[in-house]
Amino acid sequence: MREILVTSALPYANGHIHLGHLVEYIQTDIWARAMKAQGHQVTYVCADDAHGTAIMLKAEANGVTPEEQIAAVKASHEADFAKFLINFDNYHSTHSEENKHFSELIYRRLNDAGHISTKDVEQLFDPEKQLFLADRFVKGTCPECAAADQYGDNCEVCGTTYDATDLKDPHSTLSDATPILKTSKHYFFNLPEFEQFLKDWTRSDNRLQTSVANKLQEWFEAGLATWDISRDAPYFGFQIPNTPSDEPDKYFYVWLDAPVGYMASFKNLCDKRAGTDEALDFDRYWMQENEHKTEVYHFIGKDIVYFHALFWPAMLAGSEFRTPTGVFAHGFLMVNGEKMSKSRGTFIKAETYADHLHPEYLRYYFASKLSDKVEDINLDLEDFMQKVNSDLVGKVVNIASRSAGFLVKKYDGMLTEVCAEPSLLEDITKTGDEIAAAYENREFSRAMRLIMQCADKANEYIDEKKPWALAKVEGAEQEVQDVCSVAINIFRQLMVYLAPVLPELTANAKAFLNIDDLSFASRNEWLLGHKINKFKPLMQRIEEKRRCRDG
Ligand code: 2FM
Ligand code: ZN
Repeated sequence: MREILVTSALPYANGHIHLGHLVEYIQTDIWARAMKAQGHQVTYVCADDAHGTAIMLKAEANGVTPEEQIAAVKASHEADFAKFLINFDNYHSTHSEENKHFSELIYRRLNDAGHISTKDVEQLFDPEKQLFLADRFVKGTCPECAAADQYGDNCEVCGTTYDATDLKDPHSTLSDATPILKTSKHYFFNLPEFEQFLKDWTRSDNRLQTSVANKLQEWFEAGLATWDISRDAPYFGFQIPNTPSDEPDKYFYVWLDAPVGYMASFKNLCDKRAGTDEALDFDRYWMQENEHKTEVYHFIGKDIVYFHALFWPAMLAGSEFRTPTGVFAHGFLMVNGEKMSKSRGTFIKAETYADHLHPEYLRYYFASKLSDKVEDINLDLEDFMQKVNSDLVGKVVNIASRSAGFLVKKYDGMLTEVCAEPSLLEDITKTGDEIAAAYENREFSRAMRLIMQCADKANEYIDEKKPWALAKVEGAEQEVQDVCSVAINIFRQLMVYLAPVLPELTANAKAFLNIDDLSFASRNEWLLGHKINKFKPLMQRIEEKRRCRDG
């Protein structure tokens, strides 16, 4: 049994979960469930990413404390995740004791090993709000093309990137005041000291997808820079320990303590489970000497590869913790071929979707689109409806609905003692090996294709045998039971294969099939001489709501 810790990126505690986020949580959840179903011990943890200026300002705008702000958002995130059946073993917050402990510990170890340096940095400062301005809080005229109203990092008109201090006529977006230049001491993580380690790390043991490794190669060629890990007060976060008392308060930049949140959430879970049958040993997963005993995987979006494939392993290696076994990046979600957009109405919150459509439709649709590549995936609403209706309702559920009735009505729900079509069932049992491998390799679209091919075979078999016609033929009773029993057995295999994607539908199918196990191994035991329950519809078609002009 493998021991696996898996994480999804931590969502910021200042906004709602939307369909773009869900690509990742659904991807990770399917993977974690599939690995559990294959008999591994899998722990899936996550947390809210609760620190930073944006969250502090949001709380201020809402007239609440940052602590109140993050508590409310965490509750709403957890409710959204539950609707989409994201089965975290633990959901924590980066604003936690555990995270403070590990962030300080990692920082201290890095500092003691000489990996931290300081430097004076001149930055724009808002004299009214009394805070240093991150680039997105400064606007002004582009120094290159003179376009007005451009952000502090790059011009949306001519594409030039620059420093906020280069903007002409800058103003603070927080107060409209003209920023002044101010110097303060910043703390840096000396990333270049890890260059050789990172070059080896990123190229070995299949830790990264090829396209990600290639991107990193470009970054190595461009040269690694030291990383500013400090921010001045006022800031919502953890104070950097042992900074000189005559200096203004320094805080860890949110991205320093965010990935540490993976460890912190896991530690929180270890503490909760201590002394139970499900106890977990923190050290077994995070101590350097145990690196090969357990596995740690991070699922992330392609925009945060730099943090997870460079900063994070370097921080861990520099503080004598183990590094991740793998970092898996996915692309962005497009809707109808374009970026999600509020004005086009394609920026869909998780909650809004769930108010109208069943979350499992989306889980299946994403599964049918996801691969191990870093490609964007497109939610095409027509295709979505068509896929769900034709694959899940038309092919899969249909197998049960067209055979269960005969068995329940005429045979008291009893399946035959002997399988009438063992080679067909063997074929579908065997395809399970390929499906399991596809799940493990994150080739979910391939897994879904293989499953639908199995469903096609079952439907072809039923179409050929025509139990509805046989039911009218005198003397064909045995054959009707044979055919329907084969169909139900195939349906049960399909439920095993789809369980990671459709946990609710398959749980209902389990009740209908009168079985208590949907693990991958369970598909080897065919249902013979077994009694099933009455069939209830397991999934509704998506009906297009037509607008009626007459009301
Ligand atoms: O990009 C984001 O949304 C970050 N909140 C992800 C953090 S992931 C991890 F490092 F904590
Ligand atoms: Zn410009």
